[in-house]
Amino acid sequence: MRVVGIETSCDETGVAIYDSARGLLAHALHSQIALHAEYGGVVPELASRDHVRKVLPLLRQVMAQSGTRPDDVGGVAYTAGPGLVGALLVGVAVGRSLAWAWGVPAVAIHHMEGHLLAPMLEDNPPEFPFVALLVSGGHTQLVRVDGVGRYAILGESLDDAAGEAFDKTAKLLGLGYPGGPALAHLAQRGDSKRFHFPRPMTNRPGLDFSFSGLKTFAVNSLQTQGDDDQTRADIARAFQDAVVDTLAIKCRRALQQTGLVRLVVSGGVSANTALREHLGRIADEEGAQIFYPRLEFCTDNGAMIAYAGCRRIQAGQTEPLAFSATPRWPLDVLTPP
Ligand code: KG4
Ligand code: ZN
Repeated sequence: MRVVGIETSCDETGVAIYDSARGLLAHALHSQIALHAEYGGVVPELASRDHVRKVLPLLRQVMAQSGTRPDDVGGVAYTAGPGLVGALLVGVAVGRSLAWAWGVPAVAIHHMEGHLLAPMLEDNPPEFPFVALLVSGGHTQLVRVDGVGRYAILGESLDDAAGEAFDKTAKLLGLGYPGGPALAHLAQRGDSKRFHFPRPMTNRPGLDFSFSGLKTFAVNSLQTQGDDDQTRADIARAFQDAVVDTLAIKCRRALQQTGLVRLVVSGGVSANTALREHLGRIADEEGAQIFYPRLEFCTDNGAMIAYAGCRRIQAGQTEPLAFSATPRWPLDVLTPP
């Protein structure tokens, strides 16, 4: 069965076609970075309008690339939340309408389910059950995954998500949007010994996170130590070390607490090299195997939505003939298809 996947929850338009027998056939992505850069962050209304412009051309492109005609499509999946409501509504409206026009089932996908199933697109996919660390611009969660739709939240961020903390701290350091990759780049020439930032919530039990306080350490360091290039790099390094170390400590705890031996890491921040190195060491020490999506599927994309949709549509799930977006949508209310 061929399933079209559409992702428009934030600042990338992603469209892909996944085939249950042959795997991923085509995917295309349009990033809105250039559009939002001059504002220093995502402008929701501009995001929605750009999705409107891009979603159908990208769909035509992946259908042509994979030689898919409308008759070949067995279902349409689209991200229905969480995300920006106007942006979501573009993918939801287009996806549900296409499915109706083509006479095939439609399925509304949770964006974070897309992220946590993204490693399934790789050659050595993880088996269930596993622990997933989801680290994106909007979420930081540790999830116990027992199967598709069987998700238990082990811990999550009480304030800023890891990616959000990267973006805000990057802004303080005068780096452009999106800040995560820019901060990671700057941190490479930072001295790890100059500043030490705390590892929030690691000295008490539990698997929740709190990253918002790290901004204050960045501001204070900048104010007291002067504002030269090397200081900025040193702050970037201290910040990244603190986030990475905190995530790693909680991942180790989650593996120990669940007794599971597989760790999936996904979402935009999972592209971070320092995080990958550190988690690699932790996984080795815990005798666990670690799984990532390929780099381009760490951040938002249509392929993960097409995959999740295919699993759900094959199991018989289908949306009624109406559509709605769910900007706030907890992951653990999902059920197996
Ligand atoms: O998953 P994603 O593309 O979108 C959301 O669902 O939020 O994640 C985007 C987030 C942004 O906060 C971005 O700064 C962060 O991922 N990010 C990174 C890196 N690449 C992307 N953060 C740290 N290091 C990176 N290399
Ligand atoms: Zn995402």
